[in-house]
Amino acid sequence: AFAGHLPPRNAGFKKIEEQDRAFFRSILPEQAVRTSDLGPFNTDWMNKYHGKSDLVLFPRTTEQVSKILKHCNDNSIAVVPQGGNTGLVGGGVPVYDELILNMSAMNKIRHFDSASGVVVCDAGCILESLEETLGAEGFITPLDLGAKGSCHIGGNVATNAGGLRFLRYGSLHGSVMGLEVVTADGTILDNLSILHKDNTGYDLKQLFIGSEGTLGIITGVSIWTPPKPKSVKVALVGLDSFKNVQATYEKTKTHLNEILSAFEFWDKESLKLVLSHSIQGTRDPFDDQYPFYVLIETHGSNAEHDDAKLQGLLEDLMEGGEVVDGVVAQDESQSQSLWGLRESIPEACSKAGAVYKYDVSMPQSVLYQLVEDMREHMRSKGALGSKVTDVIGYGHVGDGNLHLNISAPKYTDEVQSLIEPFVYEWIQGHRGSISAEHGLGVMKGAVLPYSKSPEMIGYMRKIKEAFDPKGILNPYKYLPLTESK
Ligand code: FAD
Ligand code: MLT
Ligand code: ZN
Repeated sequence: AFAGHLPPRNAGFKKIEEQDRAFFRSILPEQAVRTSDLGPFNTDWMNKYHGKSDLVLFPRTTEQVSKILKHCNDNSIAVVPQGGNTGLVGGGVPVYDELILNMSAMNKIRHFDSASGVVVCDAGCILESLEETLGAEGFITPLDLGAKGSCHIGGNVATNAGGLRFLRYGSLHGSVMGLEVVTADGTILDNLSILHKDNTGYDLKQLFIGSEGTLGIITGVSIWTPPKPKSVKVALVGLDSFKNVQATYEKTKTHLNEILSAFEFWDKESLKLVLSHSIQGTRDPFDDQYPFYVLIETHGSNAEHDDAKLQGLLEDLMEGGEVVDGVVAQDESQSQSLWGLRESIPEACSKAGAVYKYDVSMPQSVLYQLVEDMREHMRSKGALGSKVTDVIGYGHVGDGNLHLNISAPKYTDEVQSLIEPFVYEWIQGHRGSISAEHGLGVMKGAVLPYSKSPEMIGYMRKIKEAFDPKGILNPYKYLPLTESK
């Protein structure tokens, strides 16, 4: 089996025994303690990381989470917090036999205030369900992801997920108003603030946003939601170079400014993959194929006004020669099929059998060069077309966020060593980040020094030790390993 760079099991962690299971049964309903058919909980979305846990707990309340963690901390039992298990860096599945604390049974909306747009909910609410409930009230979630049908809002906060509307509504560091968190020893930190402004000391919730289950279990989320736009427009354009993708972005910002909500790109190779697997009935939008595609979306309040702006942009782009072809969706179903092309790419990438994902951010001018250099690197090693099926690029170009994906028939140490450290050295050399939005998990803890200095990592360790001195929460992940942990 593919192992990547896995550390050995920490012998300091206790193996779960019958008396532990008996304790969990004493505080949880029967169906909340699961000991069989655990394959899906031990396997990640990419089928790349596999754990060997024989216990999954499904707490219903924050108090139950607190009792579970106190028992685990007292007995040195390692714990993996798990949301919808859609993470792409192996953070939500065990490395060895860690207890899985799955949050899906905590899925209630607690409170919604339409005056402020702030919703307070359990961490296990599925993003799409939250979006549907808010939609009925005239609001939307500030983030949207292709994984919305499965991922949890708690998992989104734990990974500081970015996604498809980040460009417009910004980071969760801005939209999360408060969190309820249970720390490793069972302490409940109730910081479910609904206030937009609150300068009363260190803003602890920020530490948990993007902490990937290493500092505490997020049980409740208070989050600001924007009003549902009255008008949504979607256009797709075909382009002949990445330089023109950049030029199109510059013009799009000028023309659409306050109504721009998404600017996503993908390359010809991504489209070919999607069409060859005809995921969700996707169809080629144009008669010809182009080296690059850009999807532009607007969220506005006046359809006529938004239409005029979008038309003005497209005319300017055609006249200037930045785009070669373009289509504007005429109704919601056409919008959805254009979005379908973009949202099907992650699934299409996995179809070859295995996919190595590199989610990186860089100055926009060099964003696509990494894909071209990786392709050339694979070709020079004689790997393209054999050990490696495709090298493709897509992503949130407005955020300087590239998704470099390398698909292959299977996960092997040989392919991984063709990609790494080449990819990380390249990113470091261009002052980029080795993780733009997917996080670190088990995949990137060891390579964090490519993006963070020893001093920064030193302070990150001190934070970890303050919240989780025994290191029971999501071990072997997130930080480079030391001798003891
Ligand atoms: P999981 O995968 O279950 O867990 C992720 C991490 O968070 C793990 O480390 C886990 O331990 C921790 N965790 C989960 N819940 C909690 C909790 N309640 N408390 C503490 N820790 C917790 N990401 C983006 O940023 N942008 C995208 O556009 C995007 N699109 C995606 C599209 C697809 C098709 C897929 C499969 C994934 C995509 N992702 C994207 C990856 C992204 O990280 C996840 O989809 C999402 O944020 C993870 O949520 P989850 O509930 O599935 O968490
Ligand atoms: C996306 O933008 O589609 C996601 O981050 C998932 C991925 O990178 O595959
Ligand atoms: Zn993404």
